[in-house]
Amino acid sequence: MTARGLFITMEGGEGVGKSTNLSFLEQQLKSHGIDIMVTREPGGSRLGEDLRHLLLEVRDETVDSMAELLLMFAARAQHIKTRIEPALAAGVWVLCDRFTDATFAYQCGGRGIDRNAVSTLETLVQGRLRPDCTLLLDAPVAVGMARAKNRGVLDRFEQEERDFYERVRATYLEMAESSSGRYRVIDASQPLERVQHQLLKVCSELRACWGVRHSAQ
Ligand code: TMP
Repeated sequence: MTARGLFITMEGGEGVGKSTNLSFLEQQLKSHGIDIMVTREPGGSRLGEDLRHLLLEVRDETVDSMAELLLMFAARAQHIKTRIEPALAAGVWVLCDRFTDATFAYQCGGRGIDRNAVSTLETLVQGRLRPDCTLLLDAPVAVGMARAKNRGVLDRFEQEERDFYERVRATYLEMAESSSGRYRVIDASQPLERVQHQLLKVCSELRACWGVRHSAQ
């Protein structure tokens, strides 16, 4: 029987270098012969990518927080069913750019939605599916926002005020502390080589964890 793949998520506020570090991690894991699928949220499926567009575009109406939350979970339900679960079941590792921790950080921390409402949706949509490991790229909000602004046109989330992002960051750090077994926090304000040095360590830990899972089959 094939051992289930590992489910790894990468999280962080704006401008923390998720894309660069995600592809670095992907290359490292692939170079060790690991079969890996890289995906993202919101998005990851055709329906999910359409919903992503609706969620990120700047609109001439205020988007209700509950509508935003439910669209995130609608995209997630489709993503899990059509891509994440089939990959994990086939022994493929899934490396996902954001997952439900982003909902706790942005919709609960940022927008003020009750955590219990999100936990209820989490169970409803995901069943028992949770990431095996979550990498949190953490940087002071001012650093991340300055980097994001340099990228050009800002989406609906990137246009939020600094306070919103302070709450997002604080929520991520609280989750990392309370679920410390699953989280690896990486200081993303360091030079890239230092960040990637830390990612290499995580990479060996993950391979070791995979080895244990394999030998238990
Ligand atoms: P990004 O993945 O390119 O950073 O953009 C996705 C945006 O969506 C980002 O600003 C965070 C936001 N987001 C939420 O607010 N809740 C979620 O559950 C997810 C997955 C993303």
